[in-house]
Amino acid sequence: MTALLKLDQVNAFYGAAHILHDLCLTVNPGERVALIGRNGVGKTTAVNTIFGLASLRGGQIHLGNHALKKPRPYLAAQHGVAAVPQGRRIVANLTVEENLLLGAAVGRKGPWNVPEIYKLFPILQERAHTPGTSLSGGQQQMLAVGRALMANPSLILLDEPAEGLAPVIVDQLALIFKQVADQGTALLLIEQNLSLVVRVAERYCAMAKGSVVAEGPVENTQHSLEDLQTHVMV
Ligand SMILES: Nc1ncnc2c1ncn2[C@@H]1O[C@H](COP(=O)(O)OP(=O)(O)OP(=O)(O)O)[C@@H](O)[C@H]1O
Ligand SMILES: [Mg+2]
Repeated sequence: MTALLKLDQVNAFYGAAHILHDLCLTVNPGERVALIGRNGVGKTTAVNTIFGLASLRGGQIHLGNHALKKPRPYLAAQHGVAAVPQGRRIVANLTVEENLLLGAAVGRKGPWNVPEIYKLFPILQERAHTPGTSLSGGQQQMLAVGRALMANPSLILLDEPAEGLAPVIVDQLALIFKQVADQGTALLLIEQNLSLVVRVAERYCAMAKGSVVAEGPVENTQHSLEDLQTHVMV
């Protein structure tokens, strides 16, 4: 089986700052993988490197069979990888619907389009012509997920989607991520909210100082939760 995403001994930098050290990470078709670790270990930098926003200076990134020599956002989209960025990054002066359409601009053809996103998130249809940033935090997160789906990806990278959201909204997100995964899209869930991780992921990779230091299965049990906690506690 060809992995959807394979990072092989990736070294990445911001300027002279060496952030990722021989990072290895694989996501297979249909998998739900969690990437966990304390603040500043390099989780977002892993995403940024795949999209060409941090500088790849060693190792290899494969998206399916495609070796990414010079990562760029449009290349990730063309090869089936979309992201829900940390902080959501909804474009302020675009409407909800225009924000959704942005996701399709560089993506692939497939089952997801505006009507399908509205079926998944009816609230986005109700608010279609209002500014994207007028939505609540939870609704903006739905918009960011919808925008990623519009690219018809095989894999979505979710960077701390629960950040700043009330527990009841996080419960809704867990169901949404399950629904998206059930339709065949693989997920890489970067998250410090471990109650979300145990509900969504089947496998975890834990990072420290720019590398993966532990990995294993995830179950929706107290024991699994406690196991994961050791990797994110300060
Ligand atoms: N644009 C940048 N230029 C220089 N250093 C940066 C830049 N962005 C992040 N860093 C540094 O890179 C390291 C990794 O940051 P990164 O954002 O990848 O961590 P993270 O694991 O996503 O943390 P968090 O859980 O807080 O989101 C940190 O030491 C951070 O200060
Ligand atoms: Mg981050």
